[in-house]
Amino acid sequence: MSAPHVLILGGHGKVALRLTPLLLQKSWRVTSIVRNKDHESDITSAAGKSNLENLRVLVESIEDVKSTSAAARVLDEVRPDYVVWSAGAAGKGGPVRTFAIDRDACRYYIDAAASPSSSVKKFLLVSYIASRRGYPPWWTTEDKASADHVNQNILANYYKAKVAADEYLLARSKAARDAGKAFADICLRPGTLTDDDGGEGVLLGRTGSRGEVSRTDVARVAAALLDTEYRGWLDLLKGKEEVGAAVDRCVSEKVDCIEGEDLEAIYNARLELD
Ligand SMILES: NC(=O)c1ccc[n+]([C@@H]2O[C@H](COP(=O)([O-])OP(=O)(O)OC[C@H]3O[C@@H](n4cnc5c(N)ncnc54)[C@H](OP(=O)(O)O)[C@@H]3O)[C@@H](O)[C@H]2O)c1
Repeated sequence: MSAPHVLILGGHGKVALRLTPLLLQKSWRVTSIVRNKDHESDITSAAGKSNLENLRVLVESIEDVKSTSAAARVLDEVRPDYVVWSAGAAGKGGPVRTFAIDRDACRYYIDAAASPSSSVKKFLLVSYIASRRGYPPWWTTEDKASADHVNQNILANYYKAKVAADEYLLARSKAARDAGKAFADICLRPGTLTDDDGGEGVLLGRTGSRGEVSRTDVARVAAALLDTEYRGWLDLLKGKEEVGAAVDRCVSEKVDCIEGEDLEAIYNARLELD
């Protein structure tokens, strides 16, 4: 394959702004979707100096995507190889906006990307560490209590929206692969995000439910994962392992943090979206 073309949804987000130059440095092509034309210059300034000719900014409102066909229109225009979902309502606009973006638009994009006619071969979804219904076996009592507190008392609507998107990605991607499409689903699940430069190392794979990680390291891990054959769920916190080594380990050991979830229920859920 020639250099991959990546569509970033939520291109003006803090993780996305850090990811864009990393992809351009690999000589990949990037199309970054923003909702506000004034944000175009922020994307180009963050992109750095490498391969700027490979960057395109597209103005589209993700919130207005109310069907798979609306998402397919964007994918058909861009024809990306990979899609990164790093958009989010960020709690602004109440539950209606949270569900419209973090659940519904995300699922429409997944559905469109996984369809047989789409150019997309990988979908990387930036989720969060406690986005799950079950408890993975490696979580401590404190991890369980902390995740329950966040999901039930602090971010209840965000939790419902993200878990629905994560499960849909898993099930829709499996259906696509079962139907013969080469399609990798990558669910990257960071802890609380910070704005520092990171770089001291990461804890990737099976982690507790509590802790922080820098957005810069999330971007580094995402860029590295897209360059591998990985598919699955990976939790991410600040740690001590170098990003490249952590990604290589998770790929070679086929680490997947899905353990503890009810896979039968996820795979048997209805895939048709309303
Ligand atoms: N905050 C945390 O601690 C945390 C922890 C784990 C995971 N996460 C998840 O990590 C992801 C990335 O985080 P982040 O810090 O980079 O988030 P962010 O800075 O809030 O970025 C989200 C992006 O989505 C864009 N967006 C919102 N509505 C849109 C619309 N209608 N059309 C187009 N774009 C739209 C926003 O655009 P504008 O720039 O125009 O507002 C923003 O650029 C998010 O999905 C978040 O849920 C967050």
